[in-house]
Amino acid sequence: MLKVLVLGSAAGGGSPQWNCNSEVSKAVRNGKDGTTSRTQSSIAVTANNNEWFLFNASPDLGSQILKNKQMHPKVDLRHSPISGVILTNGDVDHVAGLLTLRERQNLSLYAHERVHSVLKENSIFNVLNPDYVERREMRMNEKFELKNKGGNGLGIQVEAFEVPGKIALWLEDESKGDNFGTQEGDTIGLKISSLEDGKSFFYIPACAKMTDELAERIKNSDMILFDGTLWKNDEMEASKVGQKTGQRMGHMNNSGNDGSMEALRNLNIKRKIYIHINTTNPILLPNSKERKIVEENGWQVSYDGMEIEL
Ligand code: MLT
Ligand code: MN
Repeated sequence: MLKVLVLGSAAGGGSPQWNCNSEVSKAVRNGKDGTTSRTQSSIAVTANNNEWFLFNASPDLGSQILKNKQMHPKVDLRHSPISGVILTNGDVDHVAGLLTLRERQNLSLYAHERVHSVLKENSIFNVLNPDYVERREMRMNEKFELKNKGGNGLGIQVEAFEVPGKIALWLEDESKGDNFGTQEGDTIGLKISSLEDGKSFFYIPACAKMTDELAERIKNSDMILFDGTLWKNDEMEASKVGQKTGQRMGHMNNSGNDGSMEALRNLNIKRKIYIHINTTNPILLPNSKERKIVEENGWQVSYDGMEIEL
């Protein structure tokens, strides 16, 4: 058994985004058509109903913990069902929540060595006292069991792999050319399996392009939570809130010949769910034609608090 709890279904900035007045952000604020608010990108997973692992730690983690009773302390004066965190990149929306996890709690923290080195260079992350928080390097294409700080296995197996992507926005270096200094390991995907019954799913909240290798890997799977950032590549410009394209930000669009609906269409994946969705994306509006299209194509749009059992 694996249980997945979507803590945050939005991309960086959340929905509504604090300084955004575009259609979706406004619809959330006005409660139009039941458009719900979404916090920034993170899921929690458990294989035993007691110990949860966070997959990315969002800047909204404090409110996500408050909102989801599964995340509340249960026993003793100091306790958390959160055993640790695993990171898929160094984006603000995926690492800033680590700062919420200070206060001397035992945790294990898994990431690619590249992301660990970024955290190490930023001394603010020293609030994660090494006496309590063990940083563990995650090697690509090797299966391992998630363990808590004490070394006890949680029954969740992970296999990490690199996917096409980009260095975190706040680390971009224009002097390094077209890819802004992106290195291998800056963006990874994860296959997450139950050691008990072998059930598994993929979690890929950022992906710039579908490659043959990635398609082969995810083919025939039971479920995927996939990068749903933008409906179309020039969406930010079209909605007059920015110039950057999806490709420039390291994200595939949902629609179009180069989009994720097309790329995953014939891969025989039983359940396909968009996550990490930007507030400009019209699939967030329950009555939009774009929402209808993704649903007709067999996709679900994740929401905060969504629970999935495998
Ligand atoms: C992204 O996924 O593109 C980033 O989270 C953008 C950001 O840092 O806001
Ligand atoms: Mn992001």
